[in-house]
Amino acid sequence: MLKGKTAIVTGGSRGIGAAIAEKLASLGANVAVICAGNRAAAEAVCERCAQAYGVQARAYVCNVASFAETKETVAAIKADFGTVQILVNNAGITRDGLLAMMSESAFDDVVDTNLKGAFHMIRHCAAMFLRSREGCIINISSVSGLMGNAGQCNYAASKAGLIGLTKSVAKELAPKGIRCNAIAPGFIRTDMTGDQENNPLLAMIPLGRMGRAEDVAQAAAYLACAQYVTGEVLRVDGGIAM
Ligand code: NAI
Repeated sequence: MLKGKTAIVTGGSRGIGAAIAEKLASLGANVAVICAGNRAAAEAVCERCAQAYGVQARAYVCNVASFAETKETVAAIKADFGTVQILVNNAGITRDGLLAMMSESAFDDVVDTNLKGAFHMIRHCAAMFLRSREGCIINISSVSGLMGNAGQCNYAASKAGLIGLTKSVAKELAPKGIRCNAIAPGFIRTDMTGDQENNPLLAMIPLGRMGRAEDVAQAAAYLACAQYVTGEVLRVDGGIAM
């Protein structure tokens, strides 16, 4: 379905990003996996994609919070793959804390990675998308961005900001054949969330379980293929934000 396309997945060395990279590869896409520092983990994801699905896959270390580094990395990906049709902005961090105690750096770090990081990547990929009049951008937001969450004012603001970014980019680039959507995952079991067996929030999930990275990857694959869908925010949350 995505044969001959190339996808960039930021934060693809583990968790949701790794699952998305593997899912897109299973549909035939070549993948450029960006990670913050764990090159070996990103390379292992690439190896799994190449071996299982015969696609091209390469790892890149890049801090998405840096305008200059993302520019260089997108240029390197263009040199390696020719062009890119799919961009998944998945890299994200948390630095949770109560508002009254939150440091300026905890707020800035989270916004710089989660929100500005997506802007940087879209900004640097836009020329490729515009030239080919084809592009699909998927931003990984969160139900925290839809509902807010006590102890996460920085994270929720960054994830709500991603939704505004998504809809603006969708409106601006739709006439050029470029789509932009967001996914709002709920409570997904990854390194970011850890073991949550006893978390009372679990009882509030209508489907009665935490999500899996593969549940989010399936939604990303849908959005990568859904040619008439843009500006959408797709909840993948077991119904918690209903
Ligand atoms: P994770 O912590 O397992 O993986 C995060 C990935 O982002 C890693 O590959 C890391 O290298 C990368 N990353 C972090 N900072 C970076 C930077 N400055 N530059 C480049 N890469 C960077 O997290 P997880 O759980 O897989 O989350 C992935 C995305 O999904 C995040 O944006 C997160 O906010 C979002 N999300 C996760 C939920 C969950 O319950 N796990 C729920 C809702 C949203």
